[in-house]
Amino acid sequence: MFMLAPETAHEVAVHAMAAGRLTGLSRLIAGPRPRFPVELMGLQFPNPVGLAAGFDKNGDSIDALGALGFGHIELGTVTPKPQPGNPRPRLFRLPEFEAIVNRMGFNNKGVDHLVQRLQNARYDGILGANIGRQKDTPTDQAAGDYLVCLEKVYAWCDYVAVNISSPNTPNLRELQDTGPLKELLDELVAARSRLESEHAMYRPIVLKIAPDWDEAALTASLEVIGASGLDGLIATNTTLDRSPVAGHRHAAEAGGLSGRPLMTLSTQVLQRARNVLGKNFPIIASGGVHSGADAAAKQAAGANLVQLYTGFIYEGPELIRACTRNWSASRQHAAA
Ligand SMILES: Cc1cc2nc3c(=O)[nH]c(=O)nc-3n(C[C@H](O)[C@H](O)[C@H](O)COP(=O)(O)O)c2cc1C
Repeated sequence: MFMLAPETAHEVAVHAMAAGRLTGLSRLIAGPRPRFPVELMGLQFPNPVGLAAGFDKNGDSIDALGALGFGHIELGTVTPKPQPGNPRPRLFRLPEFEAIVNRMGFNNKGVDHLVQRLQNARYDGILGANIGRQKDTPTDQAAGDYLVCLEKVYAWCDYVAVNISSPNTPNLRELQDTGPLKELLDELVAARSRLESEHAMYRPIVLKIAPDWDEAALTASLEVIGASGLDGLIATNTTLDRSPVAGHRHAAEAGGLSGRPLMTLSTQVLQRARNVLGKNFPIIASGGVHSGADAAAKQAAGANLVQLYTGFIYEGPELIRACTRNWSASRQHAAA
């Protein structure tokens, strides 16, 4: 796969899985799903290791990915309407660093397509739906896009992740500033209450934040999140920082950097989030997990669950097992 252009390799893998051809093979490669149950946000996660958003944006490979052993899979990011994303090339590998730079730009088939996929999924782990805003929706109207998506996915997933931290949708990160953030979270929490009574079911909503902050702004936004009534946090998305890969031929490509070089920065943000939000607030770690030891480091910094993306590309599905193995029962109980 590494001999193909990065995005082509990704498409081949996802399409083959979507066709079901790899489902049986996946199970053979991965063996039974590693078991280490974690209860969080009222949900029973079969193990603490999930697939981060962006790998299966449209929900086309849910069952095949599930067969690899993930305890949860986060689909999306989806937007209200389909959109093509940025022109190619928009995905770059930095194998010397086990990293990726991407500027995909929320290419996706739209929320209705994802809902249909969720309705047909047989995977028995936890399914998250990650939602975003359309590229050309201005910040002051962004809430409308999130609400459209929230209403559509609500009954068909186990939790909803609100993505305000992609660096590849112009001005999206403005929603992380305390003013717009508070307005957005108030609307989401109100919608969650309305949908809870309409559907007679509760769906937790988590917020996915960036790793790129100055400390005062991060603390201020975390305080807004903590007071909002939201159910959890994902820390973090990709970074704009290129210092860890300086000099690489792809270092200057626009987009978000993920993989090994993101580990330190995203773990610092996770730790800060744990300190500000207190010991009981659900936090899912994402960013730079390439080994069981990395997963344990995320747990030590305060994570309740961990997600993989770039590490899964470089290390393969065995990483799910390694991370589950290193997840510590004692810390799990200490955090509970
Ligand atoms: C190619 C690519 C596409 C991504 N697309 C999304 C996305 O649509 N939504 C999202 O919330 N995060 C997206 N991400 C970010 C990942 O979910 C993850 O948070 C980030 O890559 C850090 O984790 P990692 O170092 O394990 O890759 C994407 C990452 C990559 C590499």
